[in-house]
Formats: sequence, C-alpha cells, structure tokens
Amino acid sequence: MARHLITSAIPYINGIKHLGNLVGSQLPADLFARYQRARGNEVMFLCATDEHGTPAELAAAKAGQPVADYCAEMHLVQAQIAEGFGLSFDHFGRSSSEENKKLTQHFAAKLAENGLIREVTEKQMYSKADGRFLPDRYIEGTCPNCGFESARGDQCDNCTKQLDPIDLINPHSTISGSTDLEMRETKHLYLCQSKMKDQLEAWIDSKTDWPVLTTSIAKKWLNDGDGLQDRGITRDLDWGVPVKKGDEDWPGMEGKVFYVWFDAPIEYIACSQEWVHAGKGNDWERWWRTDKGADDVTYTQFMGKDNVPFHTLSFPSTILGSGEPWKLVDYIKSFNYLNYDGGQFSTSRGRGVFMDQALEILPADYWRWWLLSHAPESSDAEFTWENFQASVNKDLADVLGNFVSRITKFCRSKFGEAVPEGGVYGAQEEALIADLTGKIRAYEQFMEDKEVRKAAQELRAIWVAGNEYLQSAAPWSTFKEDPEQAAAQVRLGLNLIRLYAVLSAPFIPGTSATMLAAMNTQDDSWPNDVPAALAALSAGHGFTVPDVLFGKITDEQREDWQQRFAGTRD
Ligand code: 2FM
Ligand code: ZN
Repeated sequence: MARHLITSAIPYINGIKHLGNLVGSQLPADLFARYQRARGNEVMFLCATDEHGTPAELAAAKAGQPVADYCAEMHLVQAQIAEGFGLSFDHFGRSSSEENKKLTQHFAAKLAENGLIREVTEKQMYSKADGRFLPDRYIEGTCPNCGFESARGDQCDNCTKQLDPIDLINPHSTISGSTDLEMRETKHLYLCQSKMKDQLEAWIDSKTDWPVLTTSIAKKWLNDGDGLQDRGITRDLDWGVPVKKGDEDWPGMEGKVFYVWFDAPIEYIACSQEWVHAGKGNDWERWWRTDKGADDVTYTQFMGKDNVPFHTLSFPSTILGSGEPWKLVDYIKSFNYLNYDGGQFSTSRGRGVFMDQALEILPADYWRWWLLSHAPESSDAEFTWENFQASVNKDLADVLGNFVSRITKFCRSKFGEAVPEGGVYGAQEEALIADLTGKIRAYEQFMEDKEVRKAAQELRAIWVAGNEYLQSAAPWSTFKEDPEQAAAQVRLGLNLIRLYAVLSAPFIPGTSATMLAAMNTQDDSWPNDVPAALAALSAGHGFTVPDVLFGKITDEQREDWQQRFAGTRD
C-alpha cells in the first residue's frame, strides 16, 4: 500500500473564494486524494485557512470586527462550503493555530542557528496620522510600471509586478487615506535564500517529471536579476505569529510578526498536528519526518501559478535550511488561471460565480465535473455559461444520466427490480469488456499522472462506450426475439452502473453515492479485474430506479445566471 501526503494551497481567510480559486488547488487535490483512497492507498489530505497578514487585518476592519473573531467566523464559513463541494480533507486547519505559531517560531530558530537569517535595518513607509508602519496592502499609490492608480505596496494588481512600498508614486495610507508619510528606520529579518541557490537549483533540476508550468516559474525566479533574492520574513503588524526564536524573545524584534508567506506553508505541517489534537489520528510525524517513517511517503502539492515561487523556492529554503529531516515535496501540480466570461473573476465587483453562490444554484457535482474537465492546465481557461450548459447537458445528462435511467427503467418494466438471470455474454459483450479494460487502464494512468483534463476525457469515453453498447445491443429489440439474451445485456448494463459509480467517484462523489445506493450495494472496490467487476451484481440482486441524476440546464436558466453574475461594474 502506497502512502500519499496531499496538500492544497491554503485559501486566504478574507472572504469566500470563486470557482477559479477552487479549480486551481482544492478541487484537483480532492480528485487526487479520492482516487488514491479508492485504489486502497493510505492518504493524508490537508488544507487550512491562511489567516495572517494584511489581507486578514483589512478584511476584518472592513467587517468592523476584531481580526481574531473575523477569522474564526470565516474559517467556519469556508469549512462549510468546502464540505458542500465534497472536499474530503482529513483536516481543515487554521494557520493562526497554536501549533503553527510554535512550529513557525521553531523553524525561525533553526534557520538562525544555521546562519540563514540576517537582521537588516531599513527604511519603511511610516504614517504619522495612523501612528504605524504601512506594509503590503496598507499602502496604495500609482504603479511605476503601468500607471495603475490603485497599486498596492507589495504588488500591482493591474500588471502583477511585485513592488516595494517605496516604489509607489503618490502613496497614501489605505487606513486613513493620509499622504503624510515618511521613511522611518525599522529592523527586519531576511531569509538568506541566496545562500541556498545551488541546493535549490540542483533539487529543481532533479524533478524532471514536474509540469513545465511549475519548473519554468521556479527557474525564472531562481535566476531573477542577480540570482535568488533574500526575502524579508517579518512585518510591522499586530496580527500574525510573534517573532521569536523558538520560545525565546528575539531582541529588537518586539512587537513584530512573521510575514504571512513565511508561516502559511508551515501550516501544512502544523495542520497534521491539529489533526492529532482534534483526535483524528495519533501520529503526524510518520507523514512529515523522514526519520520517523515518512521516507516512503509521496508528497504532492496543488496550487495556482502565482503560488509556485513560494513552494519551489521559499518554503523549500525553510525546510532545507532547518537542517532537520522534514519531508520535502515530491511533485508540484500547478494551474493557470480560470477566467470568467470574457474577463476576470472580481471579488470587489462581484463578477463571476463564488463558491457559496454556485452551491445555491446547482449541486456540487455539476460544478466539479465542469471545472475538472476544463481545468486550466496547459493554458488559462475560461468559464462561459454556454460551455457550462453544453457540458452538463451532454456529458452528465445525456451520456451518464441517460444511461442509468434507460437501463434501470427498462429492466424494471420487463424483468422487475432485480438483476435478471439467463443468457450469456456474446461477442459484443466481450468486445465491450476488452474496450473498457483498455480505457480504464488509460484512465488510471492519467489519474496517477495528475493529468486532470485527460482523465476526465477518458472517463467520459468510458461512459460513452456503455451508451454505444446499449444503443447497438438494444435490449428492447432483443427482448422481442430472445428474452434470455436481453437479460444478459441488461445484467451487463446494471453492472456497468456500479462500475461507473466506482470510477466516477473522484469526480462526482455525490452522484456516485446515489448510483451505488440505487444499485443497492456498498461494493465500491476498484475494477482491477474488469470482467470480475462486471459480474459483481449477480442475478436476483435487487435495485431501485433512481431519480433523474442530472437535470438539464435550460436556456432561461443560463440567461438568468449570466445576468445575475455579470457584476455591478465593469
Ligand atoms: O494565494 C493564496 O491564496 C495563499 N493564501 C496561498 C497560501 S499556500 C501556502 F503556502 F500555505
Ligand atoms: Zn502596474
């Protein structure tokens, strides 16, 4: 039995995520986790909310709540929505946990011990009106690169250039709007990534099977300017992990916290400790410490492309620099962006479909299927309502749903609600079984390779093969001449429903459960032996005809939703 550690990038706490966020990390990670479990492997699937930094502080201020309360509330909201989408995390943690605080301070101590942290006295923007420094999103101004007027201190949202607050033209505080700013001296810690460059480069070069998207971004940053830059890992903020060296104070760092991107990935590990403290398991180290049994673990991370630098360079610097035997990631699956109907998803403009809204209008499986079968792997992808409607109506309703409905209804009308006996499989049935065997093996390979779109295509081809068989075997015609033969055809059809439920579960777990329930079985074993799997339900086994699995999306619904989610401004 293989052991799979799987993490999804942890979403910021500052609001409900849109479908583009979902398909870039949590959803494909869930697909992989469900698949590995279905194959009988041991899985630890972790995710959490990313609760520190200026995004959290600003969102809490806007909501008029203390930041800790805001985070606690939003964590529950995100957890509930994740459950609604069937995201099967073994634990959904919080980066503001005590576990993460301790572990982050531990890593900082180890890095300092190993000479990988330097203290830098530098000038930062200080607002006299607000009586504080203005890091990251607390300051806005005009982008020196593209002229966009609301560029933030850390990044321009228009041209995506990474910025420093001092680069901004006409900067102002986003708290008070004050322009009475001055440069003041403050001390910060820098992680000496430059010293790790050779080690990181050798490690990345050894990963020849990684997606090009992952390695190309990693290499770009590795050779950015004069090479890998050291990064500031502390901030003048109240909310975050206090800067300490393990349990000890860090002289000169009083009142400062670690930068959100330093503690966020450490939460992947801390989350497994939270899992233990929540009483869900008793040994986190066998997943994370190569000296404690994690050497046979395969660790896969899922994320959007903007997260790649932090996972290929910064976090590995923390892990490797600690000098301790922590498990390093084996495979980084990254995604491009999903756009929305000719533009971008926009939280501020309410443009696009957000996770809570999606579940209000349709069950999770409709979204899961569309998103995964259109995952932005090789390039950015686009959600359009026309495409969504066509995909749902064709793949889910016409192909899969119709197959299930036809075979169960036909059986009920001619043989009753039990698998019929009599007849034997002939050449046509043998050909179908051979065809399916090849397709199932291909599907397995795509799933192992985390080729999400290709796996979806193969699964669809598996559904289509059953439909085509039914169309050409036509038990409703056979029945008139040879009821025994029709019984064998129907028996195969009913077994195909169970087989489809098992194979489709990673994509559409809710529907898969409905199909198994209709077939009155709990046998969800993987079809390693396809002929045997197609004989699992034997003659006499009772079943029920399920309700329609997927309703078709009408043109009125499509137009209505298109309008509703177009956004307030453009
Ligand atoms: O981009 C984001 O949504 C970040 N909150 C992802 C963090 S992933 C990790 F490092 F923890
Ligand atoms: Zn810009």
